[in-house]
Amino acid sequence: HQNVKPFPKNFFWGASTSAYQVEGAWNEDGKGPSVIDVGHHPEGVTDFKVASDHYHRYKEDVALLAEMGLKAYRFSIAWTRIYPNGTGEANPKGIEFYNSLINELKEKGIEPIVTMYHFDLPYALQQKGGWSNRETVDAFENYAKTLFTHFGDRVKYWLTINEQNMMILHGTAIGTVDLHLENPEKELYQQNHHMLLAQAKAIKLCHEMLPDAKIGPAPNICYIYPASSRPEDVLAAQNFNSIRNWLYLDAACFGRYNSVAWSYFEEKGYTPAIQEGDMEILASAKPDFIAFNYYTSMTVAHSNKDGNDRHSTGDQQIVIGDSGVYKGHTNEHLRKTEFGWEIDPVGFRITLREIYDRYHLPLLVTENGLGAFDKLEEGDVINDDYRIDFLREHIKQAQLAITDGVDLIGYCPWSAIDLVSTHQGISKRYGFIYVNRDEFDLKDLRRIRKKSFYWYQKIIQTNGENL
Ligand code: BG6
Repeated sequence: HQNVKPFPKNFFWGASTSAYQVEGAWNEDGKGPSVIDVGHHPEGVTDFKVASDHYHRYKEDVALLAEMGLKAYRFSIAWTRIYPNGTGEANPKGIEFYNSLINELKEKGIEPIVTMYHFDLPYALQQKGGWSNRETVDAFENYAKTLFTHFGDRVKYWLTINEQNMMILHGTAIGTVDLHLENPEKELYQQNHHMLLAQAKAIKLCHEMLPDAKIGPAPNICYIYPASSRPEDVLAAQNFNSIRNWLYLDAACFGRYNSVAWSYFEEKGYTPAIQEGDMEILASAKPDFIAFNYYTSMTVAHSNKDGNDRHSTGDQQIVIGDSGVYKGHTNEHLRKTEFGWEIDPVGFRITLREIYDRYHLPLLVTENGLGAFDKLEEGDVINDDYRIDFLREHIKQAQLAITDGVDLIGYCPWSAIDLVSTHQGISKRYGFIYVNRDEFDLKDLRRIRKKSFYWYQKIIQTNGENL
């Protein structure tokens, strides 16, 4: 493009976190345990009990976010602070905490963008079958109602479920499903169906209760590349695009399962049980926008059922492949992060264009960022130039996508402040603000502005004019 369009005037320059990764205070003020609290931790990394201690330091944290100039802050509410057992009596102290946090944000002119559920299902619900149990749909609807009732006067942007597609595709890794089941995938797609119903009900309820509010899904979306122009590779990429991405957005936006995903279910024996009226529920809810997380692209090749399909691509932690459907492939055109994730800013533009083209809804980026081992240098300095480069390249591509005509309303990189990574501890840092602790030594947990903090502050001040 010769003439790049400017970022819109009210663009949400933001940043993101999630409750269990940042709050700590895992069992305080009546909070119940979630699947995260009782989950298995890989050896050598911290658990989520203290995290960044944001629960006790939220005022100081919000002041820093305001200093950075954030227009929006995307965070999640811990279901178990509101309902310690998932259902039953609400916990006033939990409601009080989020009231205070939201008020603090509003006072500073920061728009709260709230994720209702970010991986931390109440353990009490998990014990009753979790998402395999249809009652969890009702529990979620009831939880949603409580959130809208208490916070709906100030929260105008809601996200239903964070990365539902990752919970399903990597359910055996995340622990939502019993590995010993004969057909865990079938169970996962049943859970998926229930989550889709829960999401649709929450969207409908939001529109009824809060006519001015906006609500949308928040999957992890990245466009899938074929390993080559060989037609069989292109078919494999289509397969994976349908199963990994469009399945979730088609269900959210059009209220139906896409045909490629459905025939895949039939082929593999994963078809979920659908009760009478379910499809009407899905079709009755329309999101107002699409939020999505983007870290890396992925590449796949044709799978000839040789039993050697599983291979990591994009994100080295995630091994993908499905016999006869697609096979993971390393993209030799991309550099990798210290943690082995492929870096693909152009893929970000491609993904933005593709989602917009399919659904024609406003888009909001709710995660994008670089996990790295930051070094705290003398004089409280963190020179995270690599993070600045990563974000700059992605923001440039976002601007090109806007120039292409994509209706992008905001960009909330991961993460506002250092927090505990989902599988790799606190040493894998993402924040603009450093939290002074190690895996097992909590030190003083003090907050230190990184070089990227000052850089992002300027970007926001100038509305992205001088990238
Ligand atoms: C997303 C999640 O999958 O990626 C976050 O929504 C997560 O919760 C983020 O932290 C980065 O992944 P990781 O594994 O590096 O923490």
